[in-house]
Amino acid sequence: MTGNGPLLLLFLLILLPGSHPMKIRQIYVKAGEVVTLHCPHSHKETKPTWTCYTPQETDLSNLSSAEQNQMGFLIHERSLVILSATVKDQGNYSCSLWNTTVQSWFRLIVYTTLSSDLERKTQYPITCYSQEACTLTCPDRNIPDKNILNITTTGIVWKKGSDVTTDSLVGESVSKEVYYFSSVDEEDYGVYTCTRSYVYQGQTYNKTFTVILNVKPGEKWKQPEILSPKEKDVFYVDLGSTLMINCTAVLSSEFDEVLWLSENSFVDRNLSSSVFYTWTQDINDEETKMTASLIFKNVSEKDLSKHYTCKLISVSEPPSFVTITLAQKDHTSTFIVALSIVAMILVVALMALLYVKWKTDIAIFLRNTLGCYSSISDGKSYDAYLMCYKSDSDGALNEDDRKWLENILEEFGYTLCFHDRDVLPEEPVEEAVSECIDQSRTVVLIPTTSDPGPGSGLLTDYGALVEQHSHVVFIRTETNGPKRSQSLKGLDKTGRCVTWKGMSSRLSSSSFCKELRYYLPPPQHKNKETTVRMIRP
Ligand SMILES: *[C@@H]1O[C@H](CO)[C@@H](O)[C@H](O)[C@H]1NC(C)=O
Ligand SMILES: *[C@@H]1O[C@H](CO)[C@@H](O)[C@H](O)[C@H]1NC(C)=O
Ligand SMILES: *[C@@H]1O[C@H](CO)[C@@H](O)[C@H](O)[C@H]1NC(C)=O
Ligand SMILES: *[C@@H]1O[C@H](CO)[C@@H](O)[C@H](O)[C@H]1NC(C)=O
Ligand SMILES: *[C@@H]1O[C@H](CO)[C@@H](O)[C@H](O)[C@H]1NC(C)=O
Ligand SMILES: *[C@@H]1O[C@H](CO)[C@@H](O)[C@H](O)[C@H]1NC(C)=O
Ligand SMILES: *[C@@H]1O[C@H](CO)[C@@H](O)[C@H](O)[C@H]1NC(C)=O
Ligand SMILES: *[C@@H]1O[C@H](CO)[C@@H](O)[C@H](O)[C@H]1NC(C)=O
Repeated sequence: MTGNGPLLLLFLLILLPGSHPMKIRQIYVKAGEVVTLHCPHSHKETKPTWTCYTPQETDLSNLSSAEQNQMGFLIHERSLVILSATVKDQGNYSCSLWNTTVQSWFRLIVYTTLSSDLERKTQYPITCYSQEACTLTCPDRNIPDKNILNITTTGIVWKKGSDVTTDSLVGESVSKEVYYFSSVDEEDYGVYTCTRSYVYQGQTYNKTFTVILNVKPGEKWKQPEILSPKEKDVFYVDLGSTLMINCTAVLSSEFDEVLWLSENSFVDRNLSSSVFYTWTQDINDEETKMTASLIFKNVSEKDLSKHYTCKLISVSEPPSFVTITLAQKDHTSTFIVALSIVAMILVVALMALLYVKWKTDIAIFLRNTLGCYSSISDGKSYDAYLMCYKSDSDGALNEDDRKWLENILEEFGYTLCFHDRDVLPEEPVEEAVSECIDQSRTVVLIPTTSDPGPGSGLLTDYGALVEQHSHVVFIRTETNGPKRSQSLKGLDKTGRCVTWKGMSSRLSSSSFCKELRYYLPPPQHKNKETTVRMIRP
């Protein structure tokens, strides 16, 4: 146990307030006034020992009470009371327990006149706002305990002005801890003194404090106003749900209040009610706001039929009101909105689908009705040249099909180039074919069973054909299988492929015809006569 002694000592030194040897409390007292030093330590069995160094060391606790009285102080419990301080009392004081194991230090400074530095240390500033209530409280630092033996307090005297002896009493608030202004004015600015008086053995001892009242223009309080909700607001709720409605107001004084009325009666503030309100206050430098939160624990049908009024009661203005109602959330309207969105998406999807399915018909229809003929002359004389290629499949076009195709295209208004008809007979066939390809806007490649005829030599290189002739429409058979030659494959990729489905395609309304017309540029009627003549002299 004994080994713990130094540790305990260290522990006490660190933990006990004021026990640090370097810390000295500065205490100021005006000469002739009462001052009390309160020892922060006490113990059931041991009273603190007071020692003063003024500058000679005196053990004050060892003196008898008669000696203490003679020296003008008294010790009671933890306090050392100096009844009428003199310059001789100025110095260091210590109170200690157990032979200075725990010790606190004080420095008593006794002054007769106030320097500006001392003023700062001994005066108590208070700030109030004009046209507002203001309370001056008499400080209670270093005053004797109320229950100190044989010291009786006689009261507090408030005076205005710095000179206690000449200045007059203020108001009727004498002998109170506080001095109260119901509404403070700029004129009230200034120095106030409060003097606490004590009687001890027939002698009156005083302690005077100086309070400086600063009056600032009223800013903390504003024009009272309910900020939210707004008049006639409707709150949409679900039956059976919990609802909180906040009524927030700016206050004009601390006596203003915000509360809730249901119809014409006050809403309960009892938290166990089904409808009640609570409030919170938010004070900052600029304004004071109060929020009264109206709470419905379980919104019922009955609640929906009532009017709720938030009332702001202010001391500076007549009361103001905001009335709101509740309404059931309308789920049908949101349902209708959702439904119409779905419907719109469906319509768009349907239109996209229809377009994909009928795009050829639509394009042809537009072409026919709006007369979308290209009017720009590109120097070509024919709309199309039908060119055969050899196909092994059964579904290829025969001579008859080809004749039909030529006729139907001419019926649709296309001018076709025939190398054997439109090109001079004396020209070699190969060159005639080349001429037709050059003079046509589109080359239509047709699969045939029979001999594809002249020009098929050109087809050994389809890629080159496509390159030269950007517009090639490729007709394929349904059974165009793996046997198809390598060079034909590239043509599928141009996308302009029309499938020949045998006899079923031999109708002007067939999908084959529609697709073919879709891929062919619109026929150009205008140049027909002139261009034919150009080549056929
Ligand atoms: C009081 O203590 C301070 C430092 O702790 C010392 O400077 C000063 O001289 C002391 N005053 C008296 C009167 O002992
Ligand atoms: C207290 O005073 C008595 C007599 O007055 C003296 O004998 C004693 O030594 C003093 N004690 C201390 C700690 O000064
Ligand atoms: C306090 O000091 C005195 C003499 O200086 C000594 O007789 C006494 O035992 C000490 N008490 C404690 C609790 O240390
Ligand atoms: C307190 O005052 C009364 C009379 O005023 C006196 O009889 C008594 O001894 C005093 N007590 C002390 C501790 O001074
Ligand atoms: C204390 O104040 C009262 C009245 O203000 C005065 O009569 C008395 O003499 C003062 N006492 C001291 C010690 O200054
Ligand atoms: C709200 O009240 C209704 C009817 O009074 C009741 O059926 C329902 O359980 C209550 N809901 C809650 C969450 O208390
Ligand atoms: C209402 O005010 C309180 C307190 O200011 C806050 O905690 C709560 O979130 C507010 N509720 C709503 C719905 O604004
Ligand atoms: C709140 O209401 C409950 C039940 O209605 C009641 O027992 C309680 O006393 C009320 N509390 C207050 C503070 O009125």
